[in-house]
Amino acid sequence: MTAAASGAPAGAVPVPADPVLAARGLSARYGEVQALAPLDFVVGPGELVAVLGPNGAGKSTLLRAILGLVATGGEVSFMGSSLPRRNPAAVANRGVVLVPEGRGIFGPMTVAENLELGSWRLGRDARERQRRMGRVFELFPRLKERLGQAAGSMSGGEQQMLAIGRALMADPKILLLDEPSLGLAPRVMEEILETLGVLNRAGLPVVLVEQRAPSALKLAHRAYLLSLGRLAAVIDPREVQSHDQLAQYYFA
Ligand SMILES: Nc1ncnc2c1ncn2[C@@H]1O[C@H](COP(=O)(O)OP(=O)(O)O)[C@@H](O)[C@H]1O
Ligand SMILES: [Mg+2]
Repeated sequence: MTAAASGAPAGAVPVPADPVLAARGLSARYGEVQALAPLDFVVGPGELVAVLGPNGAGKSTLLRAILGLVATGGEVSFMGSSLPRRNPAAVANRGVVLVPEGRGIFGPMTVAENLELGSWRLGRDARERQRRMGRVFELFPRLKERLGQAAGSMSGGEQQMLAIGRALMADPKILLLDEPSLGLAPRVMEEILETLGVLNRAGLPVVLVEQRAPSALKLAHRAYLLSLGRLAAVIDPREVQSHDQLAQYYFA
């Protein structure tokens, strides 16, 4: 897909020819209300793709549409075959894993219990569970120190680390994150985004929904800009030199 092909302004950004995730003509609606106009969205192997746009632009809806959690039109494929609609368990089985807006961790449960929930599909395979936990602790050493603590008693940043850690326990083939920086202090946010960069450089494809565009653009290979439920542009982060230039996309 090019930006031009989807009705966005010209100035095509090259997209991968062999995407792992490919949505074609993907649209979404809530009842009678169309919340997302048809768009093409692709993620290549090892790519980190940012989804940017103001509040209400349709960013969360795009993630829900990819996962088949809302009524959609169009087609979504992952690693060469269609992703089921309205079947979250089957989508998770394919390795497509979401870290939802608001984190979705279980506050009264301990950190360890929350992490274990992420790997429930493993059944009794304790060795593989330990291996995955070890990897999570390498990325987020603080979680190891707090294994017995109630998740809800941790700081916002730690809870976000737990939400990402829990998603990693499912051994994702692609990770989608909905505004992981929401409500976090800049230093904590940078730490978390840095870790996403580490995961991505190790080969994990990532879709990162963010309102804090400059931070996301530092990590992203490409960025999709949404506005009022439409794709406004696909941009190459290397070409965005300034805030002003980004604002131009927002208000075009
Ligand atoms: N469950 C829902 N039912 C009806 N409308 C919704 C629902 N969720 C979101 N919307 C509407 O869809 C549009 C896009 O919302 P959303 O995807 O949450 O935007 P963003 O994540 O970019 O802030 C908004 O106009 C919002 O009001
Ligand atoms: Mg949202």
